[in-house]
Amino acid sequence: MTSTISSLLDELHSAAPLVGPSLLACDFAHLGEEIRRVEDAGARMLHLDIMDGQFVPNLSFGIPVVEAIRRSTQLPLDVHLMIETPQKYVGRFRDAGADMLTVHIETLPDPSEVLEEIRGMGAAAGLSLNPPTDISTVEPYLDLCDLVLVMSVMPGFGGQEFDEVALDKLRRLDELAGERLLLSVDGGVNHDTIGRCTTAGAKILVAGTALFGADDYSQRLEELISLAVNKK
Ligand code: DX5
Ligand code: ZN
Repeated sequence: MTSTISSLLDELHSAAPLVGPSLLACDFAHLGEEIRRVEDAGARMLHLDIMDGQFVPNLSFGIPVVEAIRRSTQLPLDVHLMIETPQKYVGRFRDAGADMLTVHIETLPDPSEVLEEIRGMGAAAGLSLNPPTDISTVEPYLDLCDLVLVMSVMPGFGGQEFDEVALDKLRRLDELAGERLLLSVDGGVNHDTIGRCTTAGAKILVAGTALFGADDYSQRLEELISLAVNKK
């Protein structure tokens, strides 16, 4: 592991629990300003949702936008690839500025090679699983992961309701490798669900609607972090 990535991981572990703002819910007409606002509010990372219209029934944004985001902030970029054949694109997303790259287990019969490739490029390697996907599918690969992203909605859209199935998976992953892995949860994270996620072991709470729906991002981030810390 390169020293840059291990120091980023150490930093994120020690700052946990963290809210990862999902830019999918931001005002794209003012992307630079939205990034500045969450940064000023105290965000420690940004979550970028990449959708291909194949793996998920929606399209979002791609490499040029990640490059533009990279130019506008120093925050770590947590890139969530909701795309088929992610192995074809990880290099380009890394070049575009991704610090953390997460692929879906459902897209690959064996993710070992791509996870090794991501680490080899000096980024943190993440594996994600959808609500219906059994936890046993990711267990053989945990040693190759720095992060596991547990989906609490079917990916493709923001603003969906939290699926509690994520909580059992977080607890299991926490038992297996909670000290080492950055456990992340994505979808429907809000005032009502965030505390249960951290109780179950989540370190990164991805939040789109719950954060960008607020008028005051600082206040909202503070509320969410306090519920996460107090596990309420
Ligand atoms: C879902 C994405 C999420 C999503 C979260 O496909 O991976 O990151 O934007 O949005 P909220 O917080 O609105 O559920
Ligand atoms: Zn996401």
